[in-house]
Amino acid sequence: MVEAVGLNVFKFPARMIPGCDLLTDSGTTTMTMRQWSQLLLGDESYGSNEGYFEFKEQVVETFGPQWENRDKNFENVFLFHQGRAAEAGLFTCLGRILKSSRAPYYFIPSNGHFDTTQANIEANGFEARNLFCKEALAKDQQARFKGNMDVAGLEALLDDPKMRERIPLVYLTVTNNTGGGQPVSLENIRKVSELSHSYGIPLMFDACRFAENAWFIQQFEPGYADKSISEVVRLMFEQVDGFHISLKKDGLVNIGGALVVKENGFLNKNYPELQGALTGHQVLVEGHPTYGGLAGRDLKGAVEGLKTVVSHGFLDYRISQVQRFGAWVDEACGADVVVKPVGGHAIYLDLDKFFAGTGLADGQFPGISLTALMLVAGHRCCELGIYSFGRNVDGKEIPPDPRVNNVRAAVPRLCYEDIDLRAAAEAFGVLYQQRGRIPGIEVIYGQELPMRHFISRFRFKR
Ligand SMILES: Cc1ncc(COP(=O)(O)O)c(C=O)c1O
Repeated sequence: MVEAVGLNVFKFPARMIPGCDLLTDSGTTTMTMRQWSQLLLGDESYGSNEGYFEFKEQVVETFGPQWENRDKNFENVFLFHQGRAAEAGLFTCLGRILKSSRAPYYFIPSNGHFDTTQANIEANGFEARNLFCKEALAKDQQARFKGNMDVAGLEALLDDPKMRERIPLVYLTVTNNTGGGQPVSLENIRKVSELSHSYGIPLMFDACRFAENAWFIQQFEPGYADKSISEVVRLMFEQVDGFHISLKKDGLVNIGGALVVKENGFLNKNYPELQGALTGHQVLVEGHPTYGGLAGRDLKGAVEGLKTVVSHGFLDYRISQVQRFGAWVDEACGADVVVKPVGGHAIYLDLDKFFAGTGLADGQFPGISLTALMLVAGHRCCELGIYSFGRNVDGKEIPPDPRVNNVRAAVPRLCYEDIDLRAAAEAFGVLYQQRGRIPGIEVIYGQELPMRHFISRFRFKR
């Protein structure tokens, strides 16, 4: 079957995976009993269902009182069916307001845009720029907050008036998925916020894993050990003017997304037309703004999810399991192959280390071979490296810059027990011991297509 789907893990039938499905942590959460009970209470009214009001109240409860909309002409919670739809809403509307063109003039700096965010930014005539911190670029194995933004890099851009006028807003992704699920410190959030606000530029969060990020702050950033996760979350969200979230992660649900705007924030001040434009966009693509492409029961599940996700017990269990998984993989391989420190939602195997000395070249895409063989062993993970982030232009391979070359095994929430993950770690170990016998692959379809890793077909080189 692995060969029948062209070695492409995305095309492999999920029901045929006997072990761990570690393709993503997005939308794969096992919902809690309380969430299931809320689903049964879902109000499926077309206009202004109960879940909508509860969701808005929960936003204030979770993220703080500044997220309430007191001006009743002002809508500040925009619902979408998932995270990328919220991104599309924001950048489509902003693109129209700023009249951005195909030749990008405006650009959006970030600590690390997720690929869908980048795609939505570019589709609307903006440029996406990543300002990774130096610890991330140096692959520092000790640095605790490798998801941080390079503040000096942002300062250099904002200090230059010609650059500054090209920046409509700044983004921070918490945790930084592109950078390996690495957290952003509150110190970094505050510095980026002060800097952006000193020039009147809005700061936004991509808040997909906000609670996991808060857990890292509480555990490892000096000064927050005695704060609850909820308190740290509120401190984080004081600093931003808006956020978008895929509820499929720290909303603990299988579908849902939102874009939330602070009434007195710079986003609202700088772009007063945005709310109206967003509502129009929602009606066009998602339905009535009070359900935003979701069933009423989905909203109820998300409300309950936002309550659970800030519980210290839940986060302790979740993140420590991911950390243990990383240690088991190193142990099974008998080598230091897992990217350190381990982030919040996934482990990343460094392919440069895994295949060192085997003679396999980048163009043989050994990461694809590894994921195909993991499937044979009964577990699913994905390559996030030379193939997924690289491009092929006119037959020439352009590797990702800066170089990224990992296989990711993401851990769904509340889904697997330690014994399941140990089995996946052992499979990595067996393949590591046999790495000299792993063949490279050749691409038989899709090498030049955008987002090629989702659709390509491969075969092993004989
Ligand atoms: C950091 C980040 N932003 C945005 C998204 C997009 O969310 P969705 O998959 O709900 O469209 C993801 C999804 O994995 C993500 O990890």
